Amino acid sequence: MADNRTCGCGMSRRRLLGTAGTAAAAVTAVSACGGEAPKPQEVRYGHVVGQTTDVPEGAGAVFSNSKLVVTQPGPGDYRAFSAACTHGGCTVQEVDDVIRCLCHGSEFDISTGEALRGPAQEPLEEFTVTVDGTDIVLEGPAGA
Ligand code: FES
Repeated sequence: MADNRTCGCGMSRRRLLGTAGTAAAAVTAVSACGGEAPKPQEVRYGHVVGQTTDVPEGAGAVFSNSKLVVTQPGPGDYRAFSAACTHGGCTVQEVDDVIRCLCHGSEFDISTGEALRGPAQEPLEEFTVTVDGTDIVLEGPAGA
């Protein structure tokens, strides 16, 4: 899904983020022009967010700094989701055959992010990742 919103400075957020030299600069620039602060994942588009060696097959890993959970439901099939639980916003804490939020017990599918067990009802937001060697690169929102 394309994000064509613009901030008060007339640049689209996507263009602004794409032209900023660093993640910190993007955050500063968006804030400076009065726009909505980007999600923690947005400032990492195009950047390495983890290593495949940290993501076991049939499970996954939480990358707290990027607020992402990366899973590997099948061999070499890496998926990324927001680590923010859709129930109350806790960072999900465990990943094995499901993604678990220990705050209130919600569970999410490692392939789709779909809520399998409540209280969360909504799926985790999905992102697209690519792999370069062992680097996992966050590309952007799924379906963009
Ligand atoms: S915040 Fe995750 S289950 Fe409530």
